[in-house]
Amino acid sequence: MFGVLGAGTVTAVAASCGLGGGKGSPTASGSGGDYSSAAGAMLPTPQELRSSNGLLELELAAAPVMLPWNGGERYALAYNGSVPGPTLRVRPGDTLRVRLRNSLDQPTNLHTHGLHVSPEGDSDNVSVMVDPGGYHTYDYQIPANHPAGLFWYHPHHHGQVAPQLAAGMAGAIVVSDAADDDPVLRSATERILVLSDPKVGSDAGALAVSTAERQQGRQGDVVLVNGAYEPVVTAAAGSVERWRILNAGASRFYRLTTSGGPMTLIGSDQGLLEAPVVVTVLVLTPGQRADVLVPIGATPVSLTADTIDRTMSMGGMGGAGMGMGGGGSTTTSTAPVAVLTVNPTGSSPAPTIGRLSVAQVRPSITTADGHRSIAFGGMGMGNGEFVIDGRSFDANRIDATAHLGSTEEWTITNNSMMDHPFHIHVWPFKVMSRSDGSPDPGWRDTVNVPTGGSVTIRMPITDFGGTTVYHCHIVDHEDLGMMATIQVT
Ligand code: C2O
Ligand code: CU
Ligand code: CU
Repeated sequence: MFGVLGAGTVTAVAASCGLGGGKGSPTASGSGGDYSSAAGAMLPTPQELRSSNGLLELELAAAPVMLPWNGGERYALAYNGSVPGPTLRVRPGDTLRVRLRNSLDQPTNLHTHGLHVSPEGDSDNVSVMVDPGGYHTYDYQIPANHPAGLFWYHPHHHGQVAPQLAAGMAGAIVVSDAADDDPVLRSATERILVLSDPKVGSDAGALAVSTAERQQGRQGDVVLVNGAYEPVVTAAAGSVERWRILNAGASRFYRLTTSGGPMTLIGSDQGLLEAPVVVTVLVLTPGQRADVLVPIGATPVSLTADTIDRTMSMGGMGGAGMGMGGGGSTTTSTAPVAVLTVNPTGSSPAPTIGRLSVAQVRPSITTADGHRSIAFGGMGMGNGEFVIDGRSFDANRIDATAHLGSTEEWTITNNSMMDHPFHIHVWPFKVMSRSDGSPDPGWRDTVNVPTGGSVTIRMPITDFGGTTVYHCHIVDHEDLGMMATIQVT
């Protein structure tokens, strides 16, 4: 039984009934924490549901909820009554079975962002539509060789993605394998940090946005981590924190830094890098993830987020810069917020990060079979801008085709006035080059294409055929039509 969740007291929620018992009955854990608007509350940990005997089976109930806020309450849409929704922890080879119940007043569905699973049938099929009052049971077969890493789930019903995601509907999926037993990783304190930026108000009307906000990509009133505002954690001085960070916002781009000095980036969207990289700045577009190690000494360490202006154009170099950060043209548009503060106990100095015994090495891609140029943006402003290759999304049109077993090379250009993060379902890619010359280690499923810039990716089309989508992950732009279909045969 795993009804209303531990983190935060909730009211007006449709309780979800567990499917509990027997094989695959999930093991749950979670800690209280405090969904408070006051800075300095304890970091909440979403409930975690883990697979057993190769199966994780659960119900996700999507419903409006009132969350505690500022001595009162704020209105949100949530999975199982909590924002973020439960963390789903699975292993390669597992079956993930999710019964999605729709207790909203609008259609919804579910997408497993970044998972390399089939886009067809009851798997990661974005054409599934669940009407109000209805439900759908998704059945995801996670390949035995699936990379370990941080992935996530969110709604994907075209036209409603931004309002539902921005209102709180998102949660983390962790694929764990033996790599997590590496001694350096095992001795670190792992925290999953889900960044969101909701609009805050006591009823549904508070979440409404203007046409201009949709065109810009809506941003909320506050930046939260795991639903809390500027929370704190305590950690032993001399320990190492492992932060697995997800940008689950609709549109906001973050530039993250820590007061404790550089972070060691060990993973990105698609799991571990081939080798760790020391970074002082980490840029996360909506949909992207980062896995970092942060040493803790005797003084408090804060993780700070600036919001990046996504419309800047500096000599064609673009606004947000790239996934690893850097990007000299980057400017910020809001006061930085301390996303998380670590208060150390004890007086040991910050440790040196040890060498990982594990890495994710995928064969380098030396040739490509198919080449394609993709262009974000059309002429002028208004809805005509939110197109790919001049066309607005049409679920009944096939925009790109590829053959199963081939490798695609795509160059994505952006001649519009705004940055657009490119995302494709099912098949992860390697960034081969970017117009600003910055490197991007690791494998991704989401990459920013800055205004005036371009990115070239290579994408092995393996394991699964079928039709799915690629789109801008500023999900307002996706809803406005900046999405296209790919059919793999
Ligand atoms: Cu995270 Cu097609 O989406
Ligand atoms: Cu996705
Ligand atoms: Cu966009």
